[in-house]
Amino acid sequence: KYKMILDLDTGIDDALALAYALADQDCDLIGIIGSYGNVLVEQGTQNSLDLLSLLGASGVPVYEGFSHSSTTSSFTVQPVSARIHGNNGVANLEINRASTKVEKQSSIDFLIDAVHKYKKDLLLVPTGPLTNLAAAIKKDPTITKLIGHVTLMGGALTVPGNVSPVSEANIHQDPEAANDVFQSDIPLTMVGLDVTTRTLLTNKETAIWRNLKTKSGSVYADLVDYYIDAYKETNPHLNGCALHDPLAVAAALEPKLLETIYLNMKVDTQKPYEGRTIGDETRLNLPATTTQAAVNVDVDRFVTKFMERLTTLFEE
Ligand code: BDR
Ligand code: CA
Repeated sequence: KYKMILDLDTGIDDALALAYALADQDCDLIGIIGSYGNVLVEQGTQNSLDLLSLLGASGVPVYEGFSHSSTTSSFTVQPVSARIHGNNGVANLEINRASTKVEKQSSIDFLIDAVHKYKKDLLLVPTGPLTNLAAAIKKDPTITKLIGHVTLMGGALTVPGNVSPVSEANIHQDPEAANDVFQSDIPLTMVGLDVTTRTLLTNKETAIWRNLKTKSGSVYADLVDYYIDAYKETNPHLNGCALHDPLAVAAALEPKLLETIYLNMKVDTQKPYEGRTIGDETRLNLPATTTQAAVNVDVDRFVTKFMERLTTLFEE
């Protein structure tokens, strides 16, 4: 059985990723690392604790990661993130506060220890900035060869970015960290906007959850309805909200959902292309063996699976 660690900046699609991971029978969610991005790190970490408690999974430990990138001295939430996810990352809802607390161990040490313990059975899914993973690799470079796989939500290769014409939000938060990760020999799949903006959810699906008349079903229906409304404003060309983060979890468990290309990649760290994920011209002629970018997705298979799993989870 696979072990999974999520590294979340818990806004609404991160909340969906968390639910998807919990709903999967083939993997044990062994921990969540909190990150900054959609929200401040403290808020994101608390959201994960509260959502785990809502879903009856308070046993999953939650660790707090870095509060900002290593090249900045602080972090403030962008207004557009607050619009898409709500000021508190969870649609401004008041979700019952969990009685569990954040773990005392450092998130970096937790990750490093888990890699040494579970090795190839360990899957890491970061759906926020790559600050924590880059720091773990820096502290213990041996983890790159030991870990099973990293399936990250972030980047854009064949489509424009969502925070600048060339860059996607998670990568843009910490381009240096992302570049360190992409340039390391860690086995990774980039699940970027290329594929995540093709997988959409609409009010039709959230109505199914609301009709379950369970606490989790109604909270998740409210979360996603808020997210759909925000998407209508910010992405009028899309008919629904993008399932960015849960697609990364699903692909970690079932890589065949994606069509990928192997490519040695880099992340631009300087303006005007800061945060751009692109082929690394200096390594283009070297064999690409560890880094893949997703360019296509089996939309129907994923969305069907996503609905089956989450609906079953919310029925309980
Ligand atoms: C990514 O940015 C965040 O707002 C979302 O949670 C997702 O991880 C999409 O660009
Ligand atoms: Ca996210």
